[in-house]
Amino acid sequence: MITSFYMPTRIVAGPGALATIGTLARDLGMSRVLVVSDPVISAQGFHAEALAALAEAGIAVARFDECGIDARCSYIDQQGERVRREGIDGVVCVGGGSVMCTGKGIAIVATNRKPMAECTGVGRFDRKALPMIMVPTTAGSGSEVSQWTIVKDEERHLKLLGGGPLSFPDAALLDPATLRSLPMHVAALPAVDALTHGVEAYLSGIASPLTDAVALAAVRLQQASLRASITADDDRARADNLVASCMANIACGNARLGHGHALSLPLEGQLDLPHPYGVGVLLPHVMSFNLAVLPEKVRPLAEALDVETAGLSRQEMIAACAEAVRALYADIDFPDRFTAEQLPRDRVREMAARAVPGLYAGIAAQGFDPATAHDRTVIASPAARRMTVRQAEEIFERCL
Ligand SMILES: [Fe+2]
Repeated sequence: MITSFYMPTRIVAGPGALATIGTLARDLGMSRVLVVSDPVISAQGFHAEALAALAEAGIAVARFDECGIDARCSYIDQQGERVRREGIDGVVCVGGGSVMCTGKGIAIVATNRKPMAECTGVGRFDRKALPMIMVPTTAGSGSEVSQWTIVKDEERHLKLLGGGPLSFPDAALLDPATLRSLPMHVAALPAVDALTHGVEAYLSGIASPLTDAVALAAVRLQQASLRASITADDDRARADNLVASCMANIACGNARLGHGHALSLPLEGQLDLPHPYGVGVLLPHVMSFNLAVLPEKVRPLAEALDVETAGLSRQEMIAACAEAVRALYADIDFPDRFTAEQLPRDRVREMAARAVPGLYAGIAAQGFDPATAHDRTVIASPAARRMTVRQAEEIFERCL
């Protein structure tokens, strides 16, 4: 199998990294930027510091502070048009995954001159996105080093992934100061998403020694830093967890994501379930499902999750991995089941069928009729093990 590993984003990490944003923007040739954020983040002190550093470097600033829970196609299309109209030559995102996905979408449509929905799928546009600087304010999505944006097509109730090598951010600034004001319940969600990225990259059918090295190191660092970064006032843990979530995304950017993300997608699109709940609740189940066909990967993953493996059979280690994840969830107050509202029992079959096109289909998923899926239809996914609609249904049932 031929594999490739590509990660062109410059990563500047550590306390004080945010102060370099002005010179970084100048180095990237930016003169007038759109700073993308949300109403909560744009009221924080570090946001004002970023704006001041940009101004000091002689960069003109326009702002869009209206991002919400999802990266909405309508916002992206409007702002992409604005960027062209106002001669903006760079996008700076200060926020979590939705902010970064919104900004990345704006950078894509600004140069490609077509609506965001038409840019979804893999490599569906041919012009390089505008230069981007990402400042993640949660340790989670890893969007700061990702070529992908996950957007919501509000009209069609679809969550869609789009991107390719032309939409990598140019720089990521990882400063633990941006995480300080996060309440625990807010910080836990993206952290769980990041853990899912590391594990799913490791369990991918297109994983390579390069992606495995990064994925395992990410899981190990997450296991060591995630609890303290959320439950304690610990800047060192926050800094480690930011780097860990970034590494997890570098791994899954190259090895891609598996069943957790494929099965979560219809829950997010149809039932408005926030992404981390979908992938996080599914994680222990899809992890066990795939480890069953990857015997050589069980022990390294168990050790990265800090499982005491001595004397355990392989089967016991797989169970212990799932238990380690659940124990972590308990410590950070994250659920390990869906509520009846999040996933109504009478919609389980439909959701399993809707997962068939997989995470990477983009707008092509629009033409898929879930009624055509039968028990043995396979969910499109790069994960190591084939999963049928029936098996997806069983996994959903176990999550209730
Ligand atoms: Fe994710």
